[in-house]
Amino acid sequence: MVMKQLVLASGNSDKLREVRQLLAGSGIQLIGLNEMSGTPQLTEPFDTFAENASHKALVIARHSHLPALADDSGLVVEALDGRPGVHSSRYGQTDQERIERLLAELMDVPPERRVARFVCVLALAHGDDIIGMWEGVAEGIITAEPHGTSGFGYDPVFYYPPLRLTFAEMLPEQKNSVSHRGHALRAMSGQLPQLLAALV
Ligand code: IMP
Repeated sequence: MVMKQLVLASGNSDKLREVRQLLAGSGIQLIGLNEMSGTPQLTEPFDTFAENASHKALVIARHSHLPALADDSGLVVEALDGRPGVHSSRYGQTDQERIERLLAELMDVPPERRVARFVCVLALAHGDDIIGMWEGVAEGIITAEPHGTSGFGYDPVFYYPPLRLTFAEMLPEQKNSVSHRGHALRAMSGQLPQLLAALV
């Protein structure tokens, strides 16, 4: 079988491992940014997840002359007009600071108005074109205080009602089966082999 190459436009080794696992046996060789030289700095300058993911995928596709996959994700809280949104990773210096800021901003907001969603958008670029986009969403409620120690980011304050657990109280496989990133990756993995096979 001729392996198709795909670059993951992310320096995050956890994401690389996760996508590699998902693509195992698909005939796609996933290349990490750390395996490439002279990689341009990736920024997230836009107001939507889709624009940021597309931007990163296009930068790496043009640089590598290979198809490139990028993601952008974050937490959208209704009562905060969608914040932290695309600024999720920049809402504080550390995960703890980001969580403290979020909880402080929601201090006077009652449980029924603490609805939130995690969003993940994946963009696949080839040359100057976006040839695929997928979105995954997980809906939950922001708790009054952190619960659980697994995961990362806002997981300890993101309560997922169907399982009655926060994302930080779930096992990794459990979180993957219901998370925004899991949904987006599964949607993509069904279409990716055909999309890459169609490229000249
Ligand atoms: P990026 O997609 O790598 O830019 O990350 C966006 C930010 O959103 C992360 O740094 C986290 O703060 C937050 N985030 C995205 N996905 C998750 C998740 O699954 N759990 C907790 N926080 C997340």
